[in-house]
Amino acid sequence: MKIIAVLNHKGGTSKTTTSLNLGAALAKLGNRILLVDLDPQANLSQSLGIEDEEKTISEVFAQKIDVMPIKKVQENLDLVPASLDLSAIEPGMYSNINSYFLLKGHLDRIRSSYEFIIIDCPPSLGIFSQNALIAATDVLITVQAQFLALKGLDTVNNLITTVREKLNDKISVLGLLLTQTNHTRISKDISNLLRDTFKEKVFATSIRQNVAISEASANRKDIFTYSPESFGAVDYMNLAKEILQ
Ligand SMILES: Nc1ncnc2c1ncn2[C@@H]1O[C@H](COP(=O)(O)OP(=O)(O)OP(=O)(O)O)[C@@H](O)[C@H]1O
Ligand SMILES: [Mg+2]
Repeated sequence: MKIIAVLNHKGGTSKTTTSLNLGAALAKLGNRILLVDLDPQANLSQSLGIEDEEKTISEVFAQKIDVMPIKKVQENLDLVPASLDLSAIEPGMYSNINSYFLLKGHLDRIRSSYEFIIIDCPPSLGIFSQNALIAATDVLITVQAQFLALKGLDTVNNLITTVREKLNDKISVLGLLLTQTNHTRISKDISNLLRDTFKEKVFATSIRQNVAISEASANRKDIFTYSPESFGAVDYMNLAKEILQ
């Protein structure tokens, strides 16, 4: 059983896309999956057409409900949705040490029902990402294959070191995932640099830039439902198989 935090404090690196489509691929392969939307933008929930829910992760963090609000999305695929009011709760959480452990407490109670729990983190290293890192067994870092994308990796590495030393000494780096790769020079340079630097920590599978991926989200579908023959579907299925190996 793994609890995977999908992380990068940089925006637009395919965290949400990866949470959704990796989750859908693993579900297709027969694994029971729970997706957790931890981003006040609620993009993951929106990508699955789940909006305006009464009970969301916001009520969990506000400690208004004791039970995780879990919605069944597809066969083998469940979601804990987020809502836009999550951002309003954040400032009040920092002063209370218990609020760092809220997600872990909840996930520990339900983890035995799933093979994988995948947490979509917001593009910041604030209290929600810290909750994810404390709850997770593993972290998957998405790296957009574009110039400057590597700058933030030091920050992420430092955070993981801090989490290991202070909060969760068991967390492992599942891998770095290259996303939105294409045939440009920059994309190839970033890929080579990442593989030279982080070696086997980089997934063999990278995710190609593929318009079907963004179309799928806009149509509130995962890539396998929207376009099963697309590069995006092939790449995310390969990633799922690589993780299962
Ligand atoms: N492989 C891809 N090919 C084409 N478009 C992609 C690909 N991956 C992601 N996108 C698109 O890029 C945009 C950013 O992706 P996504 O929302 O998954 O990133 P994110 O890291 O979750 O962003 P944020 O930091 O804002 O949460 C989205 O419009 C998405 O549809
Ligand atoms: Mg996102």
